[in-house]
Amino acid sequence: MKTYIAVGVIALGTTAFAHSGVKDPDVMNRMMGMSEMAKQMKVLGAMAKGEQAFDAAAVDAALVRMAEEASYIPSLFEPKATDPKSEALPVIWNEFDTFEEHARALEKTSTALSGTVGTRADLGPAMKELGQACSACHSDYRQK
Ligand code: HEC
Repeated sequence: MKTYIAVGVIALGTTAFAHSGVKDPDVMNRMMGMSEMAKQMKVLGAMAKGEQAFDAAAVDAALVRMAEEASYIPSLFEPKATDPKSEALPVIWNEFDTFEEHARALEKTSTALSGTVGTRADLGPAMKELGQACSACHSDYRQK
């Protein structure tokens, strides 16, 4: 019985990874969306650092995926959901237009960069641009 419980906990731990303890499903969904974008950034980062071979097609796939996730941000945040684990600032829902603009800016940046990263050297500037689009929103709408 003890073993059975332990296995269950491990399985839950891997599906919920960093978000364990989040109870609100809307908050969980938007965190998953953010994590998906962070995952794509890591793919780019690994290539930029030379940990992974440069692959222009994989870069474009990551950029397309990021643009897609960015396009979901407004609907993911539409419910004014809260959770003790959330880092979202309530001001989001007073300034939803501006918040949405940040999401669109990231979507545009990712889309515009797709097809332009031809060598490993292009990755640094591309990641800088993307990172700025992330932090432009985080700096106003996410707890530091
Ligand atoms: C339009 C605004 C906006 C943009 C653009 C944005 N984020 Fe976020 N992000 C947020 C908010 C708000 C939260 C806090 C959500 C919460 O805790 O409820 C967050 C949380 C996160 C988290 C933590 C998720 C978790 O598990 O708690 C990560 C990682 C993250 N963002 C990565 C990124 C990356 C990488 C980018 C750019 C590629 C990005 N974000 C772009 C608003 C944004």
